[in-house]
Amino acid sequence: MRCRIIGAPVQEGNSYPGCDMGPSSLRAAGIVSTLRQLGHDVEDLGVVVPGPARPQAHGNAAVKALPEISAWTAAISEAAFRASDEAMPIFLGGDHSMAAGTLSGVVQRAAELKRPLFVLWLDAHPDFHTLDTTESGNLHGVPLAYATGLPGFEGYFPELAATVDPKHVCTLGLRSVDPAERRALSEAGVTVHDMRAIDEHGIGTLLRAFLDRVAKANGMLHVSLDVDFLDPSIAPAVGTTVPGGATFREAHLAMEMLSDSGLVTSLDIVELNPFLDERGRTAILLVDLAASLMGRRIMDRPTRSF
Ligand code: ARG
Ligand code: MN
Ligand code: MN
Ligand code: MN
Repeated sequence: MRCRIIGAPVQEGNSYPGCDMGPSSLRAAGIVSTLRQLGHDVEDLGVVVPGPARPQAHGNAAVKALPEISAWTAAISEAAFRASDEAMPIFLGGDHSMAAGTLSGVVQRAAELKRPLFVLWLDAHPDFHTLDTTESGNLHGVPLAYATGLPGFEGYFPELAATVDPKHVCTLGLRSVDPAERRALSEAGVTVHDMRAIDEHGIGTLLRAFLDRVAKANGMLHVSLDVDFLDPSIAPAVGTTVPGGATFREAHLAMEMLSDSGLVTSLDIVELNPFLDERGRTAILLVDLAASLMGRRIMDRPTRSF
């Protein structure tokens, strides 16, 4: 497969500095050579550079770094739209506000191809705040609300060429949801599989059902992988650790099933904070997960062979 690696070292969406080193850490852990060894044609496009931030204030005084995130979103969206032309872009964050740009760019691409865009959000958090509801003011908490067209971003974030249908979004791994997000998620009709659902039904069953929907609709599929989807015991390098996350095997199974499906058209790897890592182990795990998503197997055996 033809892949394009794009770094987006944004960190102003997060109050814990260090995510800007994420792309370097993933490169040091071998993301490019690993994907090449799997037989992919990998082009490394370096990093996105944002334009100048235009001073801007919001009525919600908690909101932080709005001009910076707005500038990043515009630049990342443009890079994502261009890179999704006949290739699979893999975006290296950066905090999760990066996804405001990646989703905006890939949904524009999907609209142009007249295909629906589905989104798999692998995260402890839904990141479904608007500028009005965020209490922390950290804009890594808003990208999914922005991309699905929730109100209140007009005039603050770049205008979307197309929006993601919230009914085509599946969040997996949630275990930290704020009250405003809880209401907004159910009103919008987002599919929510929290950790309780994973414990009860198994990650494979839940993911299979979503992938079947994507396949039936001939959808494109964007996967957004936040480091805090994973349990902090295996992935300590993230500012927003929440106990009780996905295990090593659950995460690899999800990646292997995504790979078998052949449906994934773009990927984000976000929230890696190398300043908090232990001898690169979180970065190495993320590269191994990306490898599973891109075809690495224990044995040559399709998941559904028994
Ligand atoms: N819901 C919390 C907030 O809005 C946490 C958001 C965490 N988001 C993330 N991308 N890590 O501050
Ligand atoms: Mn997130
Ligand atoms: Mn998160
Ligand atoms: Mn539909």
